[in-house]
Amino acid sequence: MEYLTEKAVLSRLSTKWAGRNCQVLQVTDSTNIQCRRLAEEGQPEGTLVLAESQKAGKGRRGRTWVSPPGAGIWMSILLRPDCPADKASMLTLVAALAVERGIRKAEGLATKIKWPNDLVLNGKKICGILTEMKTAGIRAGYVVVGIGINANLTEFSEDLKDKATSLLLESGKEANRPEIVAAVMEAMEEYYEAFLQEQNLSAMVEEYNQKLVSLNRRVRVLDPAGGYEGQCLGITSTGELRVKKDDRSVVSVVSGEVSVRGVYGYV
Ligand code: BTN
Repeated sequence: MEYLTEKAVLSRLSTKWAGRNCQVLQVTDSTNIQCRRLAEEGQPEGTLVLAESQKAGKGRRGRTWVSPPGAGIWMSILLRPDCPADKASMLTLVAALAVERGIRKAEGLATKIKWPNDLVLNGKKICGILTEMKTAGIRAGYVVVGIGINANLTEFSEDLKDKATSLLLESGKEANRPEIVAAVMEAMEEYYEAFLQEQNLSAMVEEYNQKLVSLNRRVRVLDPAGGYEGQCLGITSTGELRVKKDDRSVVSVVSGEVSVRGVYGYV
């Protein structure tokens, strides 16, 4: 097994800034929390925190993220985007593209994106993304993008077993974690710069939609104000998901407000 060390990551890195300032910890509460501490200390954009295990790994919607030692990639990158706060949620989609490309480059595995923040392989989740922001007035301030990749996990709890998997379980071969981290950083730098230039996702919409697991499929939108079903038409250049309802009207679903499921299960 290739250990996750600063040297292992830095020796593979070919970025200008992403991941150059890199901290690898044996254990932390949550790499997102640690990354926020470094942000408050004034550490630069691109600062990367990795941990072999997390005692209080955070998932979305207040859930915990199980983060056992040695097998996963638990990492957070610090961004300081010069953009309004309401555009920062697009960074979750930017990160999903970066992880997809990183895994493809490092492992030769083609994952799919489950809008807005999961990656799936053979219909099961292999990565989750948690983006957190500290605003500065109406500006974004800093953003911490937390990425959890089930690289070499071999066991999942009873409640996760049916919907989660790992790169190792799906490919039968151990994933090279430093290689993946470096490839994700490279892709992140590229997509993020394209995002900043336009302040939207226009440069990557097409690519995103090609990777979207639910494209053209029937999805169920779980909206607290009333759920509905429809056909998934892909994302807009601002990251909303377009869904064509059965009455033929098209709605743009905003991430964070609702969740979208396949009609036949998780994807
Ligand atoms: C989700 O799918 O609910 C998002 C999971 C995000 C998990 C990652 S692991 C690294 C980073 N640190 C955390 O505490 N959470 C994210």
